[in-house]
Amino acid sequence: MAAPHEDLLALRSEFPILERTTYLINNSLGAMPRAVHDDLATFAREWEERGVRAWHEGWWEMAVTTGDLLAPLLGVRPGSIAMHQNVAVAMALFLSAVDYTPARNRIVYTELNFPNVMYLLQGEQRKGAEIVVVPSDDGIGVPTERLLAAIDERTRLVPISHTLFRSAFVQDAEAIARRCRKVGAILLLDVYQSAGVMPLELEAWGAHAAVGGSVKWLCGGPGAGFLWVSPEIADTLEPAFTGWMADEEPFAFRPGAIHYAHGAWRFLTGTPNIPALYSCRAGYKIIAGVGAKKIRERSLALTSYLIDLAVDAGFEVRTPRDPKHRGGTVSVWHPEAERLCRELIARDVLCDYRPNAGIRLSPHFYNTEAELERAISTLKELAA
Ligand SMILES: Cc1ncc(COP(=O)(O)O)c(C=O)c1O
Repeated sequence: MAAPHEDLLALRSEFPILERTTYLINNSLGAMPRAVHDDLATFAREWEERGVRAWHEGWWEMAVTTGDLLAPLLGVRPGSIAMHQNVAVAMALFLSAVDYTPARNRIVYTELNFPNVMYLLQGEQRKGAEIVVVPSDDGIGVPTERLLAAIDERTRLVPISHTLFRSAFVQDAEAIARRCRKVGAILLLDVYQSAGVMPLELEAWGAHAAVGGSVKWLCGGPGAGFLWVSPEIADTLEPAFTGWMADEEPFAFRPGAIHYAHGAWRFLTGTPNIPALYSCRAGYKIIAGVGAKKIRERSLALTSYLIDLAVDAGFEVRTPRDPKHRGGTVSVWHPEAERLCRELIARDVLCDYRPNAGIRLSPHFYNTEAELERAISTLKELAA
């Protein structure tokens, strides 16, 4: 069975590394679009030729205008996404606007959250937060009902991964948002493993905020993380982690307390990372141009095929079979997965290994069935 939207394979020529490797590592570092060369050259030319004038010719607004390119992929309105270096910074900034009372001090998340994020959340205990970690039975997912039951009137914040990095299990964001709203908690979704490989409707689902970044499915490279805050709550938040770009009159250079700007500007800090904002745009434009719905349809067909190939070859798959709960990655387990992963990479089948998950194989819209067959037949040979 051919995966749908084969017309997308015409875009393979936009990603030079696809000519040289079997590129199945899109959960980690999406392929670089060739247009990034031109975009970075534009940055260098502007710096060289326009010098300081470049700030007034687009650079100053770039942390928000670049976020606008993502708005359709996240299902949010323009002017509500602030670009930051990475998820850790974006999340720390959001957390700096959250306080806790003895009656409402719980942070509820699952044990399968990305550890980077947990490290920050653990730090919230210094502000009086109590951490509640919802366990998983199988290391693949957490039953939605169990997570919903842990969210109650004592819950202040529910910061969870939409798609889990180990297994690609997709949480039911809409049901979790409904529960958070019912009890008055804030839902902060980490959409890093979802953005660019499936449609997101953050506003319609009722999420309050989201963080993510560009290195994976958005093919945008490092240094371009993002924070979305729903316009519904944005202007009620006062981040302590802030800077002059978040002031409504930064060039007034007023001493004393900040006068917060509105919308995404309120969630900026100091001088933005302009080169990273140039390098992420080509990927965003290609992904948004194709559309997340089309990408999701192709991705689901490719991951189904990959699961069948892996199971037929005798491997255990640690990713949900149910398409509703499956992201873009297929985790293939073997007791020697770490060695096998190294050997696959040595044969130019690019993938990665994570403890308890195994080998993560992640086709994007530009991959073919033949590449999946090559990956699994090589893996089978190496395991024999
Ligand atoms: C779910 C999730 N969140 C966050 C990150 C990365 O966070 P940061 O941008 O702080 O490096 C990853 C990347 O591996 C991830 O999979």
